[in-house]
Amino acid sequence: MDALEMLFTRRSIRRYTDDPVSEDMIKTILDAGMNAPSANNRQPWHFVVVTEREKLDSIMQVHPYSQMLSQAPVAIVVCGDTTISSHYWTQDCSAATENILLAARALGLGTVWLGVHPQEDRSAGVSRLFNLPDTIQPLCIIALGYPAEEKGHVDRYKEERVHKNVW
Ligand SMILES: Cc1cc2nc3c(=O)[nH]c(=O)nc-3n(C[C@H](O)[C@H](O)[C@H](O)COP(=O)(O)O)c2cc1C
Repeated sequence: MDALEMLFTRRSIRRYTDDPVSEDMIKTILDAGMNAPSANNRQPWHFVVVTEREKLDSIMQVHPYSQMLSQAPVAIVVCGDTTISSHYWTQDCSAATENILLAARALGLGTVWLGVHPQEDRSAGVSRLFNLPDTIQPLCIIALGYPAEEKGHVDRYKEERVHKNVW
């Protein structure tokens, strides 16, 4: 699969097989995340890799749209260190998140981005669940596993959203 095909066929996958995801794959995916661009190259991210079933299930109690975690073998909580980057941690961690989604797609895995920040109740719940220090903010949770559903490319190109030289 070339890079553009990987990018155009990435879709949110919310059903997974029982197959476990190897440590090597998780490391490659995290490496891709840490290879993202960041403001001043500050790399303010931290990642909590969740594989314990009890912990995966408890995320569903603090995040209202995360039912797919009852099947997913892995979740990655993407967090920003606000002492490293107070202004750009959301952008930096979003870039890391997209890299993770694409790397997973390249490895034949399925993912879905579960928004946490800036929903205060979700942030508080996730912070409490994972004992995050006050200076660490959760941006999102990525559910990860081998896909048990297939989704194709959708054409979202809109010519009217493109402005040439001036609006
Ligand atoms: C910031 C953000 C928050 C999202 N939160 C959720 C969520 O809580 N639950 C969920 O099932 N999907 C969530 N998604 C996935 C979107 O629903 C999905 O990306 C969108 O419908 C487009 O579909 P696609 O990813 O298959 O292209 C989120 C995506 C983003 C970027």
